[in-house]
Amino acid sequence: MIKDNKNSKIIPFYGSTNPDLFEIERRCIDREGKVIEFLDRILPDGNLLDVGAGNGFTAEKLTNGHRHIIAVEPDEKMIDRNKRLIWSNGVAQSIPFHSKTFDAMYSTWAFFFDGITDLDDGLKEVERVVKDDGIIIIVDNYGNDEFCSLSTQDISSNVSKWVQRGFDYHVIHTEFIFDSIEEARKLLTFYFGEKGTQIDQTRIEYKVVAYTKRKTTVN
Ligand SMILES: C[S@@+](CC[C@H](N)C(=O)[O-])C[C@H]1O[C@@H](n2cnc3c(N)ncnc32)[C@H](O)[C@@H]1O
Repeated sequence: MIKDNKNSKIIPFYGSTNPDLFEIERRCIDREGKVIEFLDRILPDGNLLDVGAGNGFTAEKLTNGHRHIIAVEPDEKMIDRNKRLIWSNGVAQSIPFHSKTFDAMYSTWAFFFDGITDLDDGLKEVERVVKDDGIIIIVDNYGNDEFCSLSTQDISSNVSKWVQRGFDYHVIHTEFIFDSIEEARKLLTFYFGEKGTQIDQTRIEYKVVAYTKRKTTVN
C-alpha cells in the first residue's frame, strides 16, 4: 500500500510530456547496451524490481525465463503496457510490496531525489523489500566525461555519498550514439541549451556509474 501522497515524491521528468525527445534519449543513451550487459551479468535469477522503470526498456531486455521483473513507475503516461512486463504504479520512497520480497532491485537514472525527498527515504524502502543477501544496483551519471561537461551544473552523482552508504561502484565507459548531428543537437539543446546547438558529432563520450551492494542479513 502506498503510505503517502506519491505525487509529492515524484522527480519531475520530461518523458511523458515530450515523448519524441524521450524516444531519442532512450534509443541513443548507451546505444551499445553496455549498462544492460553489466546488469545482466550481475543480477540474479528470481523476482526483481526495477524502480523508476520509465517505459520498461531495460526491464524488458533483462527479463528471461528465470528472471521476473516488476517495473515500478509513478508516471502512468510513461508506462508502456504493450511491453510484456508486470507494472506497479508507485514511487521509490514508498514501494508497494511486502518486506523481503525481491532477490534484487535495480534502478537506472531514476534514483536522485535531492531537493525532493531524502535519498535515504528511497534506500530504506529498497532495503526493506529486498531479501537478505539480495543485490541492490543504482545506475547514474559518473561525470568527468564529454556528456556531463556540456552542462553548466554538476550533473554527476556523488560517489562518496554512496560509498558511505556501503556501496561499491563500477564505472561503465559508454556513449550516446545518435543517428545524425541534427538528432544529437535536438536532444542536447533540450538538455543543455546553447552548448547543445554547437554539437557537430554523433557520438558523445558518457561514463556511467553502477553502485552495487549486497544487502546484509538483518536478524
Ligand atoms: C530518467 S527516467 C529513467 C527511466 C528508466 N529507468 C530508463 O532507464 O529509461 C527517470 C524515471 O524515474 C521516474 N520517477 C520519478 N520520480 C520517481 C520516484 N519518486 N520513484 C521512482 N521513480 C520515479 C520518472 O517518472 C521517470 O520515468
